[in-house]
Amino acid sequence: MTTAYIGQPIPRIDGRAKVTGDAKYAYEHSVPDLAYGFVVSSSIARGNIRQIDTTAALQLPGELRVLTHENTPRVAPKGEVVDDAKSPGVPFIPLQSDEVLFSHQPIALVVAESFELARYAASLVRVEYEAHDHTTDLGAVMDHAYGPPPRSELLPTLKSRGNAEKALAACATQIEFECRLPAEHHNPMEPFATTVVWEGDGKLTVHDKTQGVQNVQGYLCSLFGYSTDDVRVLSPFVGGAFGAGLRPQYQAFLAVLAVRALKRSVKVSLTRQQMFSLHYRPLAWQRVALAAAPDGKLAAIVHEAITGTSRFEDYNEQIVAPWSGMLYQCDNVSLGYKVAKLDLNTPGDMRAPGAAWGLYALECAMDELAVKLRMDPVELRLKNYAERDQNEHRAFSSKSLRECYRLGAERFGWSRRTPDPRSMREGEALIGLGMATGAWDAFQVPGSARCVLNADGTATVSSATEDIGTGTYTVMTQIAADTLGLPIDRVTFTLGDSSLPLAPLEGGSFTVASVGPAVKAVCEKVRERVFTLARKVENSPLAGVSLEDVTFADGRVRLRSDPSRAVAFTDAMRAGGLTAIDEETSTEASPRRKDASCYSHSAVFAEVHVDEDLGTIQVHRVVSAVAAGRVMNPRTARSQVMGGIVWGIGMALEEESVIDQAFGRFMNHSFGEYHVVVNADAHDIDVIFVEEQDEIVNPLGAKGLGEIGVVGVAAAIANAIFHATGKRVSDLPITLDKLM
Ligand code: MOS
Repeated sequence: MTTAYIGQPIPRIDGRAKVTGDAKYAYEHSVPDLAYGFVVSSSIARGNIRQIDTTAALQLPGELRVLTHENTPRVAPKGEVVDDAKSPGVPFIPLQSDEVLFSHQPIALVVAESFELARYAASLVRVEYEAHDHTTDLGAVMDHAYGPPPRSELLPTLKSRGNAEKALAACATQIEFECRLPAEHHNPMEPFATTVVWEGDGKLTVHDKTQGVQNVQGYLCSLFGYSTDDVRVLSPFVGGAFGAGLRPQYQAFLAVLAVRALKRSVKVSLTRQQMFSLHYRPLAWQRVALAAAPDGKLAAIVHEAITGTSRFEDYNEQIVAPWSGMLYQCDNVSLGYKVAKLDLNTPGDMRAPGAAWGLYALECAMDELAVKLRMDPVELRLKNYAERDQNEHRAFSSKSLRECYRLGAERFGWSRRTPDPRSMREGEALIGLGMATGAWDAFQVPGSARCVLNADGTATVSSATEDIGTGTYTVMTQIAADTLGLPIDRVTFTLGDSSLPLAPLEGGSFTVASVGPAVKAVCEKVRERVFTLARKVENSPLAGVSLEDVTFADGRVRLRSDPSRAVAFTDAMRAGGLTAIDEETSTEASPRRKDASCYSHSAVFAEVHVDEDLGTIQVHRVVSAVAAGRVMNPRTARSQVMGGIVWGIGMALEEESVIDQAFGRFMNHSFGEYHVVVNADAHDIDVIFVEEQDEIVNPLGAKGLGEIGVVGVAAAIANAIFHATGKRVSDLPITLDKLM
């Protein structure tokens, strides 16, 4: 395979459009005769709507409509709701009954001639409720937790082995780590918004903020009985989503509802406050117990977790499995995971769902064990390094975690660490150095792509995938240009359109691994056709040679043994009388994956400075060494991991969606009160890639980088804070009040 572009730090292809404002987001599309919707949210967490009085609202000027459960038809004619990211249970669809299932549930949509008018009218809607008791406190319902039905066959099942309780009882050295973790919200910069264009003939063009145009298309079709020809969903640019856009969000449904009622185009955006009524990382409780022999060999791992879910769905994530049975060599492992019902909206996937929480607990516990054993934390991990996946009794497709530990420690200067807590200082500051391991799945799911090579030597490659800021445009263009053998500026990649070839949701860090192979395969098909034509041109220097004898580069088919003998694509196509070569192809998960465990890994090192008097914590430095297969583009790759690290800093120190139990509501639903990391909180961040040659994981050898960056960061910081202060704060976020 030629690799003129893969592996190169190609700048983002969509970068210019984004910084100049040419890139249009879902809410920015304007059409004539557009109406504006504003959502009315419930003020109670559980109960029924007795009455909605819209009289005052409807007296405002212009066409005005208030859609409520009283004037909205029941949807989902066939009963089934399509949503590739749904949880087991019955999905919440707005305005279908008088029932209130969570605080800030959408209970009406006001549609008016302007956004301001709609918002004002919404404030005039009067709602009377019959409120019922609610529970939003995970601690209060943990006794009622139960094992949830599995969510997806992609996700691992719990596998215990040996006898962990017995091994614990027999071991002199053991530790226990327990933590309570808050809900967290995704908070992408672009709010969830949808502009639905009424095409007149009953068809809809839907500009939506989503991580899956075809998922939204399927969702709307299943709810309203449309055929896929009737609904085209577009989402070429997404201002961040982080998992919040995997499931179709309710403003899309409401906007379509309004279009159908008014027979005109409608746009609906959620406010920042309303964004807190969407999905979130679940509230969690975890307990990890570890036992080890005096030499550090793990004798037992026990990991239990309970996360909150809604009344109506069993959201569950890979919080203990596979990580706690896979990361370290240990013959006695006991894993348990349950969910408990709360009167909140269903939680959802948020960057590294499961691993971000689960490895926080496991890696803090490993740190505690290292302290108890008086052993270096890196040493302890190397002592228990899993060469094989003990969960599944099979080898890893590749695993360079050992290299991550070594290179990360070296870059970070781990050797200067003195083992005792409170033993390192700089003036007023207590210095702490901590580390942790990260891991994430290297999934591959089915994908497809189309390639059109034009007679002028340009190509358009497409797939209904997304670029949620991850670099999909850029990396897919690199793959296509390399495979076709065209200069990169002659190749255009299009995405974010439901009419393009079938693609999975943009999630799970699997886009490059799933769509990339389809792009590669379809470009191979096209170049084979070019080759066939090139052999047939008059006096072809390639007559009689076979595909293995040629290369594709600079828009030419060249003889490998004598590169001066070549045929230009344009000449081949002209000779063949073709104006375009057009192919489409689908790919499935590589068969070789069946016998291997496929994961990316990381070693994260953090240095914190803690003010002894004030308890303020500064994350002075983070070094993350990541092994995620082949790095397709060091620039976008680094940016992915850096973003994850920044998020990990927030997870450790700041992010928390605070629930007022009396109201059953997230209270800090604004950027003023929900703290995310800002520039002043992020200091020196260093990303190292340990490249892996992996021919098993997928044809490109890339494992994906969207999520691995965040995993392990909070644990590394928590461990550094313990090292600095000698105090273990296990509940996140680690704020100064907990530390003092
Ligand atoms: Mo990711 S949480 O699958 O967008």
